[in-house]
Amino acid sequence: MKLIFLGAPGAGKGTQAEIVCKLLSVPAISTGSIIRDAMKSGTEAGLAAKEYVEAGNLVPDEMVIKMLQDRIALPDCKNGYILDGFPRNLSQAQALDRMGVIIDMVVDIEVPDDIILERLAGRRMCGKCGAGYHITHKPSAKGEKCELCGGPLITREDDTPQVIRDRLKVYHDQTEPLKDHYHAAGKLAVVAGTGDIGDITKMVMAVLEA
Ligand code: AP5
Ligand code: MG
Repeated sequence: MKLIFLGAPGAGKGTQAEIVCKLLSVPAISTGSIIRDAMKSGTEAGLAAKEYVEAGNLVPDEMVIKMLQDRIALPDCKNGYILDGFPRNLSQAQALDRMGVIIDMVVDIEVPDDIILERLAGRRMCGKCGAGYHITHKPSAKGEKCELCGGPLITREDDTPQVIRDRLKVYHDQTEPLKDHYHAAGKLAVVAGTGDIGDITKMVMAVLEA
């Protein structure tokens, strides 16, 4: 099964992808995580991406398309995958078509902007394994440490109020039009992303099984 999780920054794409990928036994592929790993390792692509990520802008298409193409060529993708954060505009969606990727369903997780701001302000991430947390909605059982690997919990550099606002604008201007694109293709399923994390997972699984 090849799926796309679409939604605003903070809509819960990563949170749901982390859970649903285990239920479906396919990898969750986050282009944001791939880019952050490249920035952390100081690769050429990572250094080039840094200024865009820190400003809340999209990294240039050719760079992110190459990263995605390399990732989905790996053997663990042979039975499918969940794409979290890709495509982000029409030209990335067209790149998927050119690669011959046939998407089964696009799950659009809808959350209003005011809730997004609160979610991203309280988000924490493991600096070692990348697992996601929230100070009130999804705290780690180990306090300031990751409950999976014991790594330190950090705040993402792009989770500052100004950059969150810029990312939301980029989402509404460039990514949201993909909803019409995939609706026209008969592939869009809309799920309300407000409420309990477990309840949202149930709704996602229900649309996948429908
Ligand atoms: P990326 O890492 O993809 O960031 P994003 O799209 O801004 O989305 P987030 O990761 O912020 O949100 P999410 O929807 O995953 O929410 P989460 O589950 O964490 O991209 C970062 C940057 O990389 C981009 O700005 C861009 O520069 C670049 N980039 C990436 N892909 C690119 C591409 N294709 N092209 C070009 N550039 C690209 O949840 C948020 C918080 O809320 C968490 O704390 C979580 O615990 C909590 N939470 C989740 N669900 C709930 C709930 N139901 N109730 C309460 N709290 C909840
Ligand atoms: Mg994410």
